[in-house]
Amino acid sequence: MCGIVGYIGDGNASDIIIEGLKKLEYRGYDSSGIAIYKNGKIEVHKYKGRIANLEAAVANEHFNSGVGIGHTRWATHGAPSDVNAHPHSNTDHSIAIVHNGIIENYVELREWLIREHGIVFVSETDTEVIAHLIGLYYDGDLVDAVYKAVDKMRGAYGIGVICSKEPDKLIAVRKDSPLVVGLGEGCNFIASDIPALLKHVRSIYLIENNETVVLTKNDVKIYNADRKEVKRDVFHVTWDEDAAEKDGYDHFMLKEIYEQPKGLYETLNRRLDENGMIKLDGISLTKEDLEKFNKVYIVACGTAYHAGLVGKYIIEKLAKIPVEIDVASEFRYRDPFVDDRTLFIAISQSGETLDTLAALREAKNKGARILSVCNVVGSSVARESDDVFYTWAGPEIAVASTKAFTTQLMCMYLIALYMGSTKGILDMDVYHRYIDELKQIPDKLKKVLEQAGNVMEIAKDFYKREQVFFIGRGLDSAISFEGSLKLKEISYINSFAIAAGELKHGTIALIEQGTMVIALATQDRLFEKMLSNIQEVKARGATVIGLAKEGNVDIEQQANKVIYIPDCMDEVTPLLSVVPLQLLSYNIAKLRGCDIDKPKNLAKSVTVE
Ligand code: G6P
Repeated sequence: MCGIVGYIGDGNASDIIIEGLKKLEYRGYDSSGIAIYKNGKIEVHKYKGRIANLEAAVANEHFNSGVGIGHTRWATHGAPSDVNAHPHSNTDHSIAIVHNGIIENYVELREWLIREHGIVFVSETDTEVIAHLIGLYYDGDLVDAVYKAVDKMRGAYGIGVICSKEPDKLIAVRKDSPLVVGLGEGCNFIASDIPALLKHVRSIYLIENNETVVLTKNDVKIYNADRKEVKRDVFHVTWDEDAAEKDGYDHFMLKEIYEQPKGLYETLNRRLDENGMIKLDGISLTKEDLEKFNKVYIVACGTAYHAGLVGKYIIEKLAKIPVEIDVASEFRYRDPFVDDRTLFIAISQSGETLDTLAALREAKNKGARILSVCNVVGSSVARESDDVFYTWAGPEIAVASTKAFTTQLMCMYLIALYMGSTKGILDMDVYHRYIDELKQIPDKLKKVLEQAGNVMEIAKDFYKREQVFFIGRGLDSAISFEGSLKLKEISYINSFAIAAGELKHGTIALIEQGTMVIALATQDRLFEKMLSNIQEVKARGATVIGLAKEGNVDIEQQANKVIYIPDCMDEVTPLLSVVPLQLLSYNIAKLRGCDIDKPKNLAKSVTVE
């Protein structure tokens, strides 16, 4: 979590950094700050709350400086406050640092610095130890001091460092937290993610783990842990800044919901040849590889995990191979049975989620073949995988994931179809029926989006509820989980999803007069069973919103309101059915006056355990 930006050049460092931080607010937004070199000193300004507070506070400062670092925070150690906000400084304020990640041995280091060196700490953060360590080791050579400090640290860090005694330098280090360097003309940048730099540069160095970068305004040098210089190819960003702008929509989330037909079209069509066959391009999964695997493991977090639930269903059905699925934070610590006959699929929009990355490494150590489904090109998950199946969602900014989810689903279908057809166990007529259905999805999704007005009316009826249940069976159950997560993330309504058939084993005890239930009934073969489940909750007083395929009008007898999706094959309904739920959550959150793109306590990229 947290976002860092740094600049060195002849421009106005504070403006450039604050502008960059705004593009990283999705990584955390409970406080922010900057450190700017000015007249032989480093000035630090940091405030609790949104970046707007920082911006207003420094509006009249006129730093006229070309060197600085900035930070937007998602609190881990110490509550959001001015003093806990970054940058942090050493005792004589000659060094300032910003940090994204967690220093695991900070308690030990803090005690050592207090006991042995009499350092007085001012904040409750883990980060402050880094500033004091660098300060302690500084002896006229900032790079050397940073190396010595890093040697003492355990954990994850992307850090930016400036020093008033060496104002011609900006230093950055990366270990397990993302870091990129932007290469400008007479200026250079660091950031946690590319969007922070797009206004200024398109040429990027992707920094690897355990690398230290020394930036001056005209030069960038990258060194490995042994202090040897390493060469890096320049990565050219092809998407433009507009992709990271709101484009007239009230929120990024709404814009991203509406971008789904395009994202799905791209994700599908970039992988299909003119005969409807799936091209893997850079991915090297051969028939022999697929025949060797006796198990697939899907691991992810949050929304990406829900894409995995659909993936499990569809891969087992089409490729006839057992699929296990787990949330990454659990997978890591339970010694899962994984070996060189396992295909491990990591799903991650950002490619930086620490739990997913750690699970991937665990599986890799055990010999598994790693295929990742990622949205961010060059991210850690992508780089550490054997193969990457990219989603073509474009940058996703809103914390609540929408277009990344549906494009992840599309990848799951393509992977399942590829596996089934390549192994020769999927009838090719069936294969082509699926491909035809998938090709129709972008247009059908546009029809779903045309019903936004109807969804808004439903939201008006229900937005004051404080408790909502989502129920569904089969693939609808996976989408119930995602619908419920979306609602709680952005509207703070206490929502709970459960497989409809499981209701009677406990949860039905909570259904009473007026309880709101959203019942997904898009699976033709389970439709009648779902109608019975709806009756069960209605009999106990629930108010029900049904979600069904067009034509299945019987649901109107049971549900109080119904949202329809276009008719399609049962197996592909998740690509359509999740969208009205995204819209419903969005509208409910809007009516409740919530901060939709930046929900409380959340961050988009979770780089802590
Ligand atoms: C965070 C976000 C979720 C996201 C999850 C996994 O919790 O708030 O929206 O689904 O991380 O993120 P990833 O980037 O790995 O897909």
